[in-house]
Amino acid sequence: MNQKPDRIIIFDTTLRDGEQSPGATLNVDEKLLIAKQLARLGVDIIEAGFAVASPGDFEAVNRIAQTVGTEDGPTICSLARAVKKDIQTAASALKPAAKPRIHTFIATSDIHLQYKLKKTRSEVLAIAEEMVAYAKSFVDDIEFSPEDAGRSDPEFLYQVLERAIAAGATTVNIPDTVGYTTPAEFGAIIKGIKDNVPNIDKAIISVHGHNDLGLAVANFLEAVKNGARQLECTINGIGERAGNAALEELVMALHVRRQYYNPFLGRPTDSEAPLTNIDTQQIYKTSRLVSNLTGMLVQPNKAIVGANAFAHESGIHQDGVLKNKLTYEIMDAQLIGLNNNQIVLGKLSGRHAFGARLKELGIELSEGDLNKAFVRFKEVADKKKEISDWDLEAIVNDEIQQA
Ligand code: KIV
Ligand code: ZN
Repeated sequence: MNQKPDRIIIFDTTLRDGEQSPGATLNVDEKLLIAKQLARLGVDIIEAGFAVASPGDFEAVNRIAQTVGTEDGPTICSLARAVKKDIQTAASALKPAAKPRIHTFIATSDIHLQYKLKKTRSEVLAIAEEMVAYAKSFVDDIEFSPEDAGRSDPEFLYQVLERAIAAGATTVNIPDTVGYTTPAEFGAIIKGIKDNVPNIDKAIISVHGHNDLGLAVANFLEAVKNGARQLECTINGIGERAGNAALEELVMALHVRRQYYNPFLGRPTDSEAPLTNIDTQQIYKTSRLVSNLTGMLVQPNKAIVGANAFAHESGIHQDGVLKNKLTYEIMDAQLIGLNNNQIVLGKLSGRHAFGARLKELGIELSEGDLNKAFVRFKEVADKKKEISDWDLEAIVNDEIQQA
């Protein structure tokens, strides 16, 4: 039987599904920078790419496997369709990783079978079984996804999962590919799988979801209550169309409301043990790094990492917070690594403090670029008493990225 984790496994797919966001392309060096930061953040698994998709994706998976996929680092994963060539390419890109995982998938909804795959259910069953076994001939750690599970016939889903587990899948991932389900429905799908797939105890149940109706995080939290133990998510929720479930929202919901979720993981309600391995202090920095490198701006009212997430505008709220933060804050900004050092930058700040704050924001500049940005910073600081993190990013964007 597979060892059941007593915590929630965080599977980050920023570099695979996240990079599928329109307009968000990353080069190999940028992917490597993000992967290193994801390892510092403490994610358990990095889906580094889709190795067969392009030579660039292959190289990114391979270099991340080599550099970040060390014995004490995260598991490194590559996506592969349930096709031999994809699986061989994923296995070859993952060779240097100490803990490699192949994630193979095939659609199971009738809509996908009829219009996309043009295959019968029994053909899909056979392919899933055969390709999981084939992937298993390369690595032990196999994840299988029935794509569009959210719209699949549950009875067929149970059969496919049973066969995939029998063939060697150690994680079965349930994707709500088109973000169609509601939390109660998604929770019921996970419960149905637990109750009806006879060998489900041999695998970890994972969930993957898109945000077309803005429900991905809520769906995942309901899935956790029903037995899901791996969450697939991206930094800032980037991804196909409306994006994926946001890592920072899931992690902080599980952290802030841990007393509510503890019993679902078989823990005493008042346990203070973290529910994930994530170092929450690294969240803000990771968010900024991903936003800066992908060019995908974070909306100001975005939960956890948006510019306004910890801002209080109305007089009544400001008054309350000054008297006691608990009046209007359910978490401390320092928990996500925001304004950790309390240094306020202004016109008297030196180049060192300026560079250090940029580093905390995930912005690493060359010596020359740092000097250029510092000159601009001094000009802005002359006009403004205090320079916010948003000012700093604007300075860097104006001076460096558009130069
Ligand atoms: O959304 C989806 O179904 C996917 C699969 C490849 C897991 O991204
Ligand atoms: Zn997806």
